[in-house]
Amino acid sequence: MPRIAYVNGRYVAHDDAAVHIEDRGYQFADGVYEVCEIRHGMIVDLTRHLDRLDRSLGELRMKSPMSRRALTQIIREVARRNRVKNGLFYLQVTRGVSRRDHVFPSADTTPSLVITAKITDPGIIAAKNEKGLKAITLPDNRWDRVDIKTVGLLPNVMARQAAKEAGAQEAIYVDARGMVTEGAATNVWMVDANGVLVTRPAEHGILRGITRTGLMDVTARLGIKVAEREFSREELLSAREVFITAATSICFPIVEIDGQTIGNGHPGSVSDKIRSAFFDVAEKTAI
Ligand code: PDD
Repeated sequence: MPRIAYVNGRYVAHDDAAVHIEDRGYQFADGVYEVCEIRHGMIVDLTRHLDRLDRSLGELRMKSPMSRRALTQIIREVARRNRVKNGLFYLQVTRGVSRRDHVFPSADTTPSLVITAKITDPGIIAAKNEKGLKAITLPDNRWDRVDIKTVGLLPNVMARQAAKEAGAQEAIYVDARGMVTEGAATNVWMVDANGVLVTRPAEHGILRGITRTGLMDVTARLGIKVAEREFSREELLSAREVFITAATSICFPIVEIDGQTIGNGHPGSVSDKIRSAFFDVAEKTAI
């Protein structure tokens, strides 16, 4: 079945989908995005993803392309046309097409909107959960507005590639003070030496992941206490359990970091428990 993408008002064959060469997303990474999971034909935590999109747009003084209602209709239509029951949608808004100039284009420039959807294989995700992933650590070399979900992801691309070349699946950033920030495309959690579930506060230095927020709901429901505090690379390496969260994967266990075994080298029980409860607790919107 051919994939379909939504590009600036039209549903087009994915293979032919294109934006203008002077789109500001293409030239300046002047755009924002969201990735949202679809599970059993339900969009997961759509409201929070669209709230974060509005926030990202606001922080960059970018116009919203349309009302939330219209946007939701298109997201559902793209998911339907691609017959996605389990997978994700990708949504990107840029400041639009304009002659190349660093300053903002005129206020009447129409924002560009692209939405795609893809099917993922639950079997592959389950296998990763069973085995656990490997990670490396790297100095965090990003700008200080990583709270905005922009398409300017070059440091993240370099970090993920470095992880791949080291035989790992994620790169975990460490700031200049030796404190863990987040993964190249995930938030980082650990169960510390005292058995307390810990994640970094989202006020500064990380993206406030929607999955992270969802996990806070889950832990509250399960009666698991979460400490939001900073932690060092050393503490991460001596944790009982480490896992990473993102809409693409919910909660992947990390069993090795920089070649050192984490805990007993097997996925931990806390991530397993939280993952099992995640979808019951999350908001679900039918396609
Ligand atoms: N990444 N931190 C970073 C830097 C991210 O890129 C992401 C998500 C997260 C987790 O956020 P959420 O739980 O809302 O997915 C944290 C997406 C999945 C991506 O770029 O593909």
